[in-house]
Formats: sequence, C-alpha cells, structure tokens
Amino acid sequence: MLIRTKSSLDIPSSEITPEAVYHSRRSFMGLGLGIPAGVSLLSSAATVHGQNSTARTAADLNLAAKPRWLQQKLQGEPVVAASGSSLAKESLTPFEDVSTYNNFYEFGTDKTDPSTRAENFSVDPWSVEVTGECVKQGKIALEDLIKPHFLEERVYRLRCVEAWSMVIPWIGVPLGEILKKLEPNADAKFVEFVTLVDPKQFPEQGSRFATIDWPYREGLRMDEAMHPLSILALGLYGDVLPAQNGAPLRLVVPWKYGFKSIKSIVRINFRKDMPRTTWSDLQPSEYGFYANVNPAVDHPRWSQAAERRLPTAGLIPSRVPTLPFNGYADDVASLYAGMDLRRFY
Ligand code: MTE
Repeated sequence: MLIRTKSSLDIPSSEITPEAVYHSRRSFMGLGLGIPAGVSLLSSAATVHGQNSTARTAADLNLAAKPRWLQQKLQGEPVVAASGSSLAKESLTPFEDVSTYNNFYEFGTDKTDPSTRAENFSVDPWSVEVTGECVKQGKIALEDLIKPHFLEERVYRLRCVEAWSMVIPWIGVPLGEILKKLEPNADAKFVEFVTLVDPKQFPEQGSRFATIDWPYREGLRMDEAMHPLSILALGLYGDVLPAQNGAPLRLVVPWKYGFKSIKSIVRINFRKDMPRTTWSDLQPSEYGFYANVNPAVDHPRWSQAAERRLPTAGLIPSRVPTLPFNGYADDVASLYAGMDLRRFY
C-alpha cells in the first residue's frame, strides 16, 4: 500500500500542475478503477506512463535497474494522493528533465553523462551493509530492508547548490522508519551513507583524472535523519528510480542542497562523530556538512538568493527566489535553533 501521510510537509499534488502523463495517470486511476478519489494503483500508473509518454529515455527502460520485487511492489499497491496544504502552486519538473539533467559524478561531470552512461547499470541483486553504533549490524538485502514498509509518494523541491531546482514526485520510505529498525544505540549521534564502488559500472571511478576520492559519502545528524521529511527514495514519477537518479536506493533530504541526497547507497554507518563528506572534503570553504538551503548565505562564487527552475522555457530561464530551508522552514528550522547558520553552512 502506498500512503500519502503528509499534509503540510510537502508540495501537494492537488495544487500542482503536473506533467501531462502524470496527470493522465491520476485521472485514469480515479475514473477507471472504481476506487475512492485520490486512491490509485501504481500498476495503472506504470502502464499509463509507458503508453502515453513517448519521451521516456532509453536509460529509463533499463531493466537491469528495475528489481522485480520492487516493480511488483509498486504495481500491486494502492496510492493515496496528497491532500491540501499551505504551500504555493508549483509545476512538477517534467520526467525528461528529471532523468536527463543529473549530477552523478561517478558517470561523469556533464549533466547528460549519467543518463547516457547508465544504460546498463545493474542494481539487482543489491544489498546494504549496516555498521557502527547499532544492534542490527551486517549485510541486508535491499528487498528485506524495504519490502515490509509502505511506500509513500512525496512531491519535494530539489535545490542544487549550483542554483538550479526541480520539483520531483519521489516514491520512498521515511528514512527514520528504516533507521529505527536497525536499532541505533545511544552513542549513534550521526549516520553516514556511502555509495557503491564499482569502476566497471561507474566509469569515473576508474579515471586517473577524477577529483573525487571515491566512494561518494554523505551524512546527517541523527535528528535530521529521523525527521519525517527525510526519505530513502526508490522511485519517481510512479516508477522505479532511473539509474541516473540513484537507483536502486538514494537519500532525499529536501531542505538541504542536493549534494546531501546521496545516490546508489550500499552502506549505512551509525557513528559517534560527524562523518567526513565528499563535497566538504573537496572544498571545505564552499561546502559544509549541514548544507541547509539558505538564500542569505551565498556560495563564495555565486549568489544563493534565487534559483533557475527547470525546465527552461525557450531562452529565458525561469528564476524563482530561493526560500530558507528550501521552503520547509516551518518543519525543520527548530532543528537548528541557536546555531549560527553562517558558520554552520
Ligand atoms: N550521489 C552520488 N553518489 N554522486 C553524485 O555525484 N550528486 C549530488 C546528489 N547525489 C551525486 C549524488 C548532487 S550535487 C545533486 S544536485 C543530486 O544528487 C542530483 O540528483 P538528481 O540527478 O537525481 O537530480
């Protein structure tokens, strides 16, 4: 079962002008299946996506990136659509942009590298190693980690530190639910996430010119990780995650710059101390551990006051003001009470 549990935390689907395909999926579900308004089946979603959207990319059709159990879970379970909220109307970023304008440096640094190079990326079987300050240590198959949980749809803004943004309908599981069942102990103050190392699949990991010291690593304070807005995403736009978006499992922390949302996770490590993270290791004066979206604190090389919302219509980029905590301040600002956000950027 796929349940929308949030009311004020995310951008409501009901107030969004969705991509045509996504919209038609919802009306299809409402009209055709004789189930209550707002409740839908993702099996229909997948079918309607497949039939109506001629613009889906070859990489999206990559079957190696679609574990069968996850496809079956997505197809078999009802969705409860979003209810209203106080947030403003915003359009979903079309699937084509979400899946072809990517940052995934393991595939290359150009925005199109991930979608063009991830075609054969294989994610099945996939497991996650759990280590550090917790009871349930060891390797756990992704299926065992995720299958017992309800999937939820969360429509979130994604704000990259490079000052572009999207609005994406993710499918995932609250991160806190997963962490809780791994039974972190009282010493677990931070949680670290690590991406797969596999130079055969990630060409940049084998490159002599790569600037990143692989694997890509990220981390959160435990209270950030347990916050109900933080999710582990397994899908978007009603289907399994395309490889270029971090299949089969990625983090989504919508109030932080996109680089915190680490892709293709293979390790979860509970720690006493703050973990080192890829971007703050590379350039500590430009990228901090917290990385909360903050229009008042500029990147040393560009302003963070506004963002370019994708897609760009014609030649003129659509600029929107950047909001504190990416618009989620009511939900998360209290996590940072008393902290100097200029210092802890
Ligand atoms: N995770 C890994 N492993 N490698 C990366 O290069 N890039 C990050 C983040 N997660 C990245 C990553 C950055 S900078 C951004 S903005 C988002 O992924 C982009 O996510 P998207 O391509 O799905 O929009």
